[in-house]
Amino acid sequence: MLKGKRILLIVCGGIAAFKCLDLIRRLRERGAAVRCILTEGGSQFVTPLSLAALSEDKVYSDIFSLTDESEMGHINLSREADLLVVAPATADMLAKMAMGIAGDLATTALLATDKPVMTVPAMNVRMWEHAATQANIATLDGRGVLRVGPVEGDMACGEYGEGRMADVPEILTAVEDFFAAGSQTGSHARPLAGQRALVTSGPTREPIDPVRFIANHSSGKQGHAIAGALARLGAETTLVTGPVSLPDPPGLSVVHIETAREMLAACKSALPVDVAVCAAAVADWRVKKSAAQKMKKNGGKPLPLELTENPDILRTLSQASGNRRPKLVVGFAAETENVVENAKKKRLRKGCDWLLANDVSPAQGTFGGDSNTLHLVDASGVEAWPTMSKTAAAERLARAVADHFAASLDDGPGAAADS
Ligand code: C5P
Repeated sequence: MLKGKRILLIVCGGIAAFKCLDLIRRLRERGAAVRCILTEGGSQFVTPLSLAALSEDKVYSDIFSLTDESEMGHINLSREADLLVVAPATADMLAKMAMGIAGDLATTALLATDKPVMTVPAMNVRMWEHAATQANIATLDGRGVLRVGPVEGDMACGEYGEGRMADVPEILTAVEDFFAAGSQTGSHARPLAGQRALVTSGPTREPIDPVRFIANHSSGKQGHAIAGALARLGAETTLVTGPVSLPDPPGLSVVHIETAREMLAACKSALPVDVAVCAAAVADWRVKKSAAQKMKKNGGKPLPLELTENPDILRTLSQASGNRRPKLVVGFAAETENVVENAKKKRLRKGCDWLLANDVSPAQGTFGGDSNTLHLVDASGVEAWPTMSKTAAAERLARAVADHFAASLDDGPGAAADS
């Protein structure tokens, strides 16, 4: 499955570095070639000799090595790979990646690369939960850096929590999924160049009065990741987003809105587009007449709020006529039961081409979480996707959109609409 793939494994300084030895063996068993960069911290935990023996290749550590530079150079080192894997990705390394610091061979290679990067974070739970690390992760997620874990469990430091490095089988699955999704062509492959994309993301806020609103738990992570992934594949992308705490993804135009009606208006002004992905959790209702002044308590009496339905943006786009209808309309179905059956019905009801169904029952932790288990429902059936990070799901969707347009070009004009 990984035959002929070249992986540059950057081994950093964490106790979990020992897992990289098995990771190298398993990657090679599957046909991949593995070349290692070992950071100074990493060399406290594994030796260059072990990495060299298992990878059957030279191990690179020194940015100022005259021999290495004359043989290959750090730029080539980072670009000859199909995928860079950083494991264990320490809090320090994630911070440097987010900031673009290039103080040694590993960080320089990461800054110089034009290839996809996957991190496998590992650190103490408090370090993982620290606002600084979370902000760095959000930055890297927004840039489309792939990530596996961390997972919850006992830690070498004696504490328990999220921060353990993912186990080797999980990393292998992520690497295989990545190549299976066809993303290995790297950031220079822009199959969606010349196409226009529209993505909705986040919640909407429907005012009750000037200080209160109806909203929901949507974090915008999935929608933002999709917009970023489509833009990286070359689509001229507009992201219409409700209020979220994520940074605007780079390389696309972002329209910030609050209400469903503002979202619809922003979407309409982004038309025509080739593909629209409605990932926003739009409030189904708004208060019919929001109060002009802050509402007061009323001596314990119940407060009646009359709600009225919001416009359905997905349905409006799906049912638009002429070139106002995107060639491909993709919706999401957040379901808590009978996920696939309900999604099939919803696809027909909304009139969209693809529907990505996800289980948002509280046990799944999809809202605000980092991973998603999706089913892609289209006219021809259902494709179950394995559980993956929201970034990986976004990459896979963007790739599927690109493949769809490539296939419809092969089939001749008009073929895209009946997917
Ligand atoms: O009907 P339901 O809210 O379950 O449909 C979910 C899908 O419809 C999502 O793709 C969501 O972005 C979209 N939607 C919309 N406008 C609404 C409600 C949902 O675009 N008012």
